[in-house]
Amino acid sequence: MLLEGKNSLVTGAGSGIGEVTAKRMALEGAKVLVVDINEEGGRRVVDEIVTAGGVAAFHKTDISNADEVDSMVDTAVEKWGGLDLAVNNAGLAERPGLFHELDPAEYHRVLGVDLHGTFYSMRAELAHFVKHGGGAIVNTASGAGLKATPRLTAYSTAKHGIVGLTRTGAMDYVQDNIRVNAVAPGTILTPAMRAAGESQMAEWASLVPMGRMGDPAEIAAAIVWLLSDQASFVTGTVLEVDGGYMQG
Ligand SMILES: NC(=O)c1ccc[n+]([C@@H]2O[C@H](COP(=O)([O-])OP(=O)(O)OC[C@H]3O[C@@H](n4cnc5c(N)ncnc54)[C@H](O)[C@@H]3O)[C@@H](O)[C@H]2O)c1
Repeated sequence: MLLEGKNSLVTGAGSGIGEVTAKRMALEGAKVLVVDINEEGGRRVVDEIVTAGGVAAFHKTDISNADEVDSMVDTAVEKWGGLDLAVNNAGLAERPGLFHELDPAEYHRVLGVDLHGTFYSMRAELAHFVKHGGGAIVNTASGAGLKATPRLTAYSTAKHGIVGLTRTGAMDYVQDNIRVNAVAPGTILTPAMRAAGESQMAEWASLVPMGRMGDPAEIAAAIVWLLSDQASFVTGTVLEVDGGYMQG
C-alpha cells in the first residue's frame, strides 16, 4: 500500500475528484479526514470508505474561512494523532461569461474559495508540517491555471494563483522534508461537469487529443502517486493529467 499509516485530509471530498481521491487514499492505507462544505456528500463518502474497511471521518469546513481552515487542520491532528498528507482540492467556477460582464462579487467569491481557500489550507498544513518534521501537499490546479480559459476569468485567475502557491510553497520548504505539488486536470467527468449537459461534454471531449474526458480515478491515481514516497524527488511540479490537452 502506497500510503500505509499516513494521516491525511482531503478538501472537497464530498464529490467528484476529491471523493474518488479520498477513497483511493483510504484503500492505500491512509486515515482520511473528509472535508467539505456539503455535509451530506461528505458523510456519504465517509460511510462508503468505512464500509469498504477504511478509516475516515467527516469535518465540515468552508475553506474560504481562515478560522474554519485552522480548525480543520487541528481536527485532523487531534483525530489521527498527526497530519502527514493534505490534498487541497475543493473548488468551484463562475458561470461562463465575458471578462467585462463578470460581477466583482462573483469574482471575489470564486477567488475566495479557489485561491484564498487553498492559501489558508496550505498555510495551516505547512505550519504543522514544519513543527512535526515534514509532510506532502497536493493542490488541485487545472489546465485553466496554465493557459487562457476564455469566459472563465475568475476561475482561470484563481487556478493560475494556485500554481504560484504550489511552486512558492515547494521552494520555501524544500529543506524541511516537505513536498508541495499540484495536479492540473483536463476535463474530467465529475458531477460539476456533468451538469453542463451531454452536448457540452461532447464538445469538451472533442478538444482532447485522446478524444475523451478523463475519469476522476485518473486524477486520484496521480494525486496518490505525488503524495507517496514513490514521488520522493518531486516537488514544485504541476502534473498535467489531461489526455494530452495542454500539448495538443
Ligand atoms: N472536473 C473537472 O473537469 C476539473 C478540471 C480541472 C480542475 N478541476 C478542479 O478539481 C476540483 C474538484 O472538482 P470536481 O469537478 O470534483 O467538482 P465537484 O463540484 O464535484 O466537487 C467539488 C467539491 O468541493 C466542495 N466545495 C465547494 N466549495 C467549498 C468550500 N468553500 N469549502 C469546502 N468545500 C467546498 C463542494 O461541495 C464539492 O463537494 C476543483 O478544484 C476543480 O476546480 C476539475
